[in-house]
Amino acid sequence: VRRRATVCSAAATSGSALKLFSPSKINVFLRIVRRREDGYHDLASLFHVIDLGDDMAFDELPRGAAADQLTCNMEGVPTDESNLVIKALNLFRAKTGRTQRFRVDLRKRVPHGAGLGGGSGNAATTLWAANELCGRPASCEELLEWSGEIGSDISVFFSHGAAYCTGSRGEIVEEVAPPLELATPLLLVKPPVGLSTPEIFRALDLGRRSTADPRDLLARLAAEGATQELTVNDLEQPAFDRLPALLELKRRLQAEGGGYSSAFMTGSGSTIVCVGSDEVPAFLSEPQYSEMFVSPARLITRQPGQWYAAPSRGA
Ligand code: C5P
Repeated sequence: VRRRATVCSAAATSGSALKLFSPSKINVFLRIVRRREDGYHDLASLFHVIDLGDDMAFDELPRGAAADQLTCNMEGVPTDESNLVIKALNLFRAKTGRTQRFRVDLRKRVPHGAGLGGGSGNAATTLWAANELCGRPASCEELLEWSGEIGSDISVFFSHGAAYCTGSRGEIVEEVAPPLELATPLLLVKPPVGLSTPEIFRALDLGRRSTADPRDLLARLAAEGATQELTVNDLEQPAFDRLPALLELKRRLQAEGGGYSSAFMTGSGSTIVCVGSDEVPAFLSEPQYSEMFVSPARLITRQPGQWYAAPSRGA
């Protein structure tokens, strides 16, 4: 019997970094349904994953490594146990019984305090990566179910990319057909000042919410597209109260922008999402706007069994 030297394909990939794109999200509409006994708020929101994202690289650390190692290129991002990446790894080990530790390098592009769920996308991408590197002990459904235990707005990333999410952490995920053409150009505009989610929820006046029925918004968006009327966000009121310049920015984008079908705040802010064009309006070159974060974006979806792909257009 001739013995052939065979190379196991798993061995060929072990030790080499798994590089993944870590996307972010927008809330096409965001209704706050009620304040709960525990102080959190139940929401009802149409989420869509977008192609503004970070780059992440994952490696398995040698057996016996005492802790995960996280590095990040952006100043001010904690790399300890408070980072959602480490929380995701701890949760993965607790749920699967695995003891594997990881090295993670995070190259951030998504701004912080933006309402774009950049950190949430990092947590989701980390759960996916740990599961891949360990030979897929969990199904995608299990990852989705577990993700709600890490924090807010993580579960949507385990849908195909468009989902109607409810619960206090957006953890109840209902897949929907993308409400807009995937090719729809978006422009994201964020002032240098970010907004803090707890502060925005504290300043929310429930009496000043929209009265629109979220199910009705969902149905009408599919038929009418992202009009100004349908892209309501109940968190605009506390955000604009705290940051009047943000309301002014939204108004100027509506009046002097590229004829967008809508301009609205995403999440708890401070990013304004413009729908229908990604041309940068001339007024944003005024000196007062020199520090703005401005980025084109597109809606993206995920194929079953695969993670989100990095955008193919130039950065
Ligand atoms: O989920 P995250 O840690 O971003 O939330 C920060 C804070 O925002 C919470 O501690 C809570 O005060 C508030 N919040 C809320 N209702 C939600 C989400 C967040 O009241 N659905």
